[in-house]
Amino acid sequence: MENAAVILAGGQGKRMKTVKPKVLCEVLGEPMLEWELNACERAGIKNIFVIKGYNGDMIDEYLAKRRSVSNITTILQAEQLGTGHAVMQASGELEKFSDANILVLNGDLPFIDVDTINGSLELHEKKGCAVTIVTARLENPTGYGRVIRSSDGLSAIVEQKDCDPMQLMINEINVGCYWFAGKELLETLGEITNDNAQGEYYLPDCIKLLIEKGKKADAYISRDSSAARGANDRRELLELNNIARAEIIGRHLDNGIEFTCTDGVIIGSKVTIGKGTVINAGVVLRGSTVIGENCRIGNNCVLENTVVGSNVDLNYVQAYESVIENDVKIGPFVQLRPNSHIMRGVKIGDFVEIKNSTIGEYTSVSHLTYIGDSDVGANVNFGCGVVTVNYNGYEKSRTVIEDNAFIGCNTNLVAPVRVGKGAYTAAGSTITKDIPDNALAIERGKAAIKEGYAINKLKARTEKYEHLKEQLESGGENKD
Ligand code: UD1
Ligand code: CA
Repeated sequence: MENAAVILAGGQGKRMKTVKPKVLCEVLGEPMLEWELNACERAGIKNIFVIKGYNGDMIDEYLAKRRSVSNITTILQAEQLGTGHAVMQASGELEKFSDANILVLNGDLPFIDVDTINGSLELHEKKGCAVTIVTARLENPTGYGRVIRSSDGLSAIVEQKDCDPMQLMINEINVGCYWFAGKELLETLGEITNDNAQGEYYLPDCIKLLIEKGKKADAYISRDSSAARGANDRRELLELNNIARAEIIGRHLDNGIEFTCTDGVIIGSKVTIGKGTVINAGVVLRGSTVIGENCRIGNNCVLENTVVGSNVDLNYVQAYESVIENDVKIGPFVQLRPNSHIMRGVKIGDFVEIKNSTIGEYTSVSHLTYIGDSDVGANVNFGCGVVTVNYNGYEKSRTVIEDNAFIGCNTNLVAPVRVGKGAYTAAGSTITKDIPDNALAIERGKAAIKEGYAINKLKARTEKYEHLKEQLESGGENKD
């Protein structure tokens, strides 16, 4: 029987002062919910229920865009009456898992990791527990539920507001991550009440009931107390970001990645980087970006879901959902918009934008150029200021440029249009017709030269200038 997970994401998180549900607040560019979904999926949990509440539609919107390897179902908790009440909303769905184990996770624990999830499950199964909770020892346990242990397991969790002075001294806390035997959870959920300091249905009361019934309960101490870290306000969220940022950069340093300076460097948790690559200041790597070996990722590059080969040199590049092959040099001030494929050996210089296009091997796009919706072959040369005119106001069309073509400076290529193999366009042309292989296309006004035309103009301009100069020198006002 496959296990299931329930993620409690109904809370608003008032102190974040945002319209988003708290679980969508981000750590290193990924919502806290995403961190948890990743941990569950990596732990092999295929059935995940997310309890949504405050602005829950935003959670559905987020999940709809996500590529999930698991089955994720959202369930509405219309009123937030406590963590126990949140899990109750899923009881119907959880019936199917009554013979399996069910993981319940508070939604604000981005650092809960696979080792903790699997380690606690192992203990849970080995001991045949009805419930196993994850705990952490904190220097300052204020605000958390305290863990009361018995000689051979767990005796109770007492919420901060319900603690007596002795219990307040306990520094082992309830992280908010629990493994329940399905049947036991479902049975006790129906029995908890809201008779406590906050008038809420507490999930930890299920544990109390199970213990009272003589069922086995145990506590698994997480190896790293940061598993317990959550964020209630912006200060704490920034702290989580700083912790995660340093942690991840540390991991890359251990793998042989060189950082010249880590100021402003933000690397997402899923990013991979090959040995010998150098990362400069201000680099932001997001999503499932992959970078090969011996690259130089220069200052202020932002790469999102982009795959970069080896020996690539990027400088002030922004790239989204794109592929950059080996031995490419790009920058400075270049944007690769989604679905750009830059093949081996390409050189792209300053102020170039590329979108939804393939640029063939060893092609050179040196300056001030826009290439959109285009298929460019190998060894093509773009002069300065080329524009593919891909949009007529209501539809996009493609430009095809075949191998070895030479696009003159300031050419407009009005799509749909094809430039044949080895063909040339004359500088300043607005190309509206397909060009056969090896031809030269010129589409521009005929040159006309009017001898002497400028002499009278120059005379008038000189007189005006002399007049102004006189006025200024005599201290008079300029009335012109
Ligand atoms: C909870 C635990 C506490 C533990 C702490 C760890 C309870 C009663 N207490 O307290 O023992 O030390 O977590 O951080 O469970 N949520 C809902 N619906 C609700 C209420 C909450 O979905 O009606 C969600 C929240 O969005 C949040 C999670 O449940 O993601 C935890 O709720 P929160 O109010 O933060 O619980 P704590 O008071 O921190
Ligand atoms: Ca909390």
